[in-house]
Amino acid sequence: MRSPTVPVDSGADKQARAIESQMTNAERLSLVVSVIGVTTEMPTHDKRIPPDMAMSVGYVPGVPRLGVPALRMSDASLGITNPGYRPGDTATALPAALATGASFNPVLAREAGRMLGREARERGFNVLLGGGMNLVRDPRNGRNFEYLSEDPWHSAVLAAEAVAGTQAEGVISTVKHFSLNCNETNRHWLDAVIDPDAHRESDLLAFQIAIERAQPGAVMSGYNKINGVYAGDNQLLLNDILKDAWGYAGWVMSDWGGTTGWECALHGLDQESGAQIDTMMWGQEWFTHTLQTAYQEGRLPRERLSDMVRRILRSIYAVGADTWGPTPAVDMDLHHHIALETARQGIVLLKNNGILPIPAESAARIAVIGGYAHLGVLTGTGSSAVVPPGGYAASINLGGPGIMGSARSLFLLPSSPLDELRKLLPDATIEYDPGTNPADAAALARRSDIVVVFGIRVESEGFDLPDLALPWGQDSVIEAIAAANPETVVVLENGSPIAMPWLDEVAGVVEAWYPGQAGGLAIAEMLTGVINPSGRLPITFPADLRDTPRPDLSGLGAPWGTPTTISYREGSDVGYRWYAKTGAKPLFPFGYGLTYTSFAYTDAEVSGGDTVTMNVTVTNTGAREGADVPQLYLTGVAEKALFRLMGFARVQLAPGQSQRVELTADPRLLAHFDGGAGQWRIADGAYRVALGRSTTDLEAHAQVQVRGRLFGD
Ligand code: GLC
Repeated sequence: MRSPTVPVDSGADKQARAIESQMTNAERLSLVVSVIGVTTEMPTHDKRIPPDMAMSVGYVPGVPRLGVPALRMSDASLGITNPGYRPGDTATALPAALATGASFNPVLAREAGRMLGREARERGFNVLLGGGMNLVRDPRNGRNFEYLSEDPWHSAVLAAEAVAGTQAEGVISTVKHFSLNCNETNRHWLDAVIDPDAHRESDLLAFQIAIERAQPGAVMSGYNKINGVYAGDNQLLLNDILKDAWGYAGWVMSDWGGTTGWECALHGLDQESGAQIDTMMWGQEWFTHTLQTAYQEGRLPRERLSDMVRRILRSIYAVGADTWGPTPAVDMDLHHHIALETARQGIVLLKNNGILPIPAESAARIAVIGGYAHLGVLTGTGSSAVVPPGGYAASINLGGPGIMGSARSLFLLPSSPLDELRKLLPDATIEYDPGTNPADAAALARRSDIVVVFGIRVESEGFDLPDLALPWGQDSVIEAIAAANPETVVVLENGSPIAMPWLDEVAGVVEAWYPGQAGGLAIAEMLTGVINPSGRLPITFPADLRDTPRPDLSGLGAPWGTPTTISYREGSDVGYRWYAKTGAKPLFPFGYGLTYTSFAYTDAEVSGGDTVTMNVTVTNTGAREGADVPQLYLTGVAEKALFRLMGFARVQLAPGQSQRVELTADPRLLAHFDGGAGQWRIADGAYRVALGRSTTDLEAHAQVQVRGRLFGD
């Protein structure tokens, strides 16, 4: 059943059919393979790439005689990457995607998407591999920093805005990694096991809604297997669900090294990506000679090859990647501001006993300790790492096993929290200690009025974390500091939940994520009250891994290449839903975040029928401007508990200002997926809802009737 939002027989489809019908088979086959440019890991120039081509992660030759442009692909979840392809080329380095997630701000996500599109066009890239949107199922996943949240609706809304922003600039965007690529441990040999209906209600629902809302030109399949079948070879996911049930009209590209055989083309894969890496991983490329032979021998039907090509062409035409006018001027100051605003709105104030904000006129003795805060701020690593304008403040390769070991580095972006604090607190006496040992740090803390200590953790594609602890003995340093001076604020630069054994001993905790190229300024502005923190956690911070669905992560630490199975037994009860189900108490809950002002909710009105809608008035009852994020939750159906985010909004309010907010649930959030019927089933009856400041801070409880029915795909 075709999804109603994908235009059928649009102009792009007609044009794709017309152009594809004129192609030779050699031209068709040339479009279904991309090759990667020269980097340290890939030192040999591939002759399929024109020698003078400024390269990146993917190149597909065009068909000039038919006006089909070459496809030039760059990674772009957090900025236009350049791990060595284009010496000296730098780009705006955004904060971690979790910061965008914490902003709960779709408008900001779209602005960032447009920024990526402009910086891509400036370099001639017409395909961006952005749109990382796997659910944060495991707090140890090394790529959580590239994703938006643990909730399907929240992830879908923000991912869609980012994709739509990029495509508004005429650059094709992508959603990835389809699907259930929620751990990095031996990802090429990982089998992710999940109940199929629960998969539809969680990770697949996130992709489905994002695709409906933004129509990304491409979908990237992940490395892992899902229920025993590789994502890139998965008839059920790629053909039955994505293309047939959802009516997806774009193309499916593999991940780089994620094509496992030519037969992937029969099961829904349209393009082999980074073909040289398949030779490294599997001993050969698949969509070149092998596919050509299969085509010549009739094992690959002509219509299927034409379909593969038409999907690629259709996306080019639908986005306008073939009709670029003059390249719009790129305003790097504006782009820097987008990175700054994302950091500002993504920072989450987790604890504040009154120590924050530090007043601008403070003459206090302030210790700033650890986190290389004198140099800059940390960023996540792997294929999404971005070299910022001016280059990294520091770059130390940490290495490690497997194909991503060479990409795992400690990168510092040149935005020093220490320097920025000194500018904002001109009358304070600020001293820095590297935090490399507890005794020195404690000594400085003892003779200070206030301590700001940084806790950092390098997280990387290709690696899961063994636990939630801060590495390198940082917990001991923080504990020694807090013992010496309890007026201590911990500032975290990380990409996943952190354990906090020192939480009760400190006066404040700030989650800054990887804060991007303006992160030092954003952190200093928040600590000194120049900005009012408004971030809300897009992921649950566990109090203990034993409270999570997988206290022990199978395969962790096994040698590279070890087949691993992870059973996602939580099904669609990801993150906060698992805590609602088990009753465990998180360290900090989804949706949580403190502010320097206060907000009240009044006049809540709820209606039922085909779905649930809540209208409520939000008022800033404090003394300074701020942003609030009212969240609408389903809390139960009839006698059953069922906890799900159904809607959210971000409202910016001056002191005393009020705004009426309407939150309406996508009906699929009220439903279970009935795999037998292949449709969504809403039970008839009473639905309990509540308005939340987080999943554990609920008010305006109400109950409404919702009409039961079977609907959709
Ligand atoms: C990487 C990542 C993917 C990225 C691609 C190209 O391994 O999994 O997100 O877009 O390869 O770098």
